[in-house]
Amino acid sequence: MTAGVGPFVVPQVGLTWGIKRSFIRYIATLPDGRHSMSDGAYLGETSYFTFPPVPSPDVPQVMRFGGVVRIGGHGGMLDLLIAEPWVEMTESGPILTVVDPTGPPDRTRRITLAELHPQDSGLAERQYTATLADAGSAIFDHHYPAGTELDTVVIQ
Ligand code: HEM
Repeated sequence: MTAGVGPFVVPQVGLTWGIKRSFIRYIATLPDGRHSMSDGAYLGETSYFTFPPVPSPDVPQVMRFGGVVRIGGHGGMLDLLIAEPWVEMTESGPILTVVDPTGPPDRTRRITLAELHPQDSGLAERQYTATLADAGSAIFDHHYPAGTELDTVVIQ
């Protein structure tokens, strides 16, 4: 990501998300806490994950991104999968959906991870604040109630 000179950082194209800072800090404190990325997902220097864009020409109300991030710890008891995030426009506003973590290898079932709230942003990027949806709460083992604020989602 940092293919720049000095402090200038070339923005990574895709959906960039830090998930939730306190969660990332918690994982960093675990003796066996770890992240792994596949299918083109990318980890920036400060634990912001970038998921590459995937064209979805037939479905303009959905912005698709690929890639898989898996976060683990506690001897495998903690195993969080965030795969193929999509921003989907619904009548009640945009939502962030991901592959149902109990679904793979079937990747067709999806859950709503977060509700998104568009922010004023520049021409080259869109930013959304994100709040946890009910199904999203389950993947964090209900440590965070629905409505908990998550990291801002940035799309470039
Ligand atoms: C052996 C099993 C586990 C143990 C012993 C454990 C222990 C703990 C402890 C002690 C904390 C408090 C940390 C702090 O406040 O600094 C915590 C927080 C948390 N745990 Fe676990 N945990 C376990 C499994 C899990 C699993 C399976 C998940 C699922 C994702 C999970 C997700 C979380 C989350 C989201 C927090 C809150 C982090 C934050 O935002 O501060 N934990 N856990």
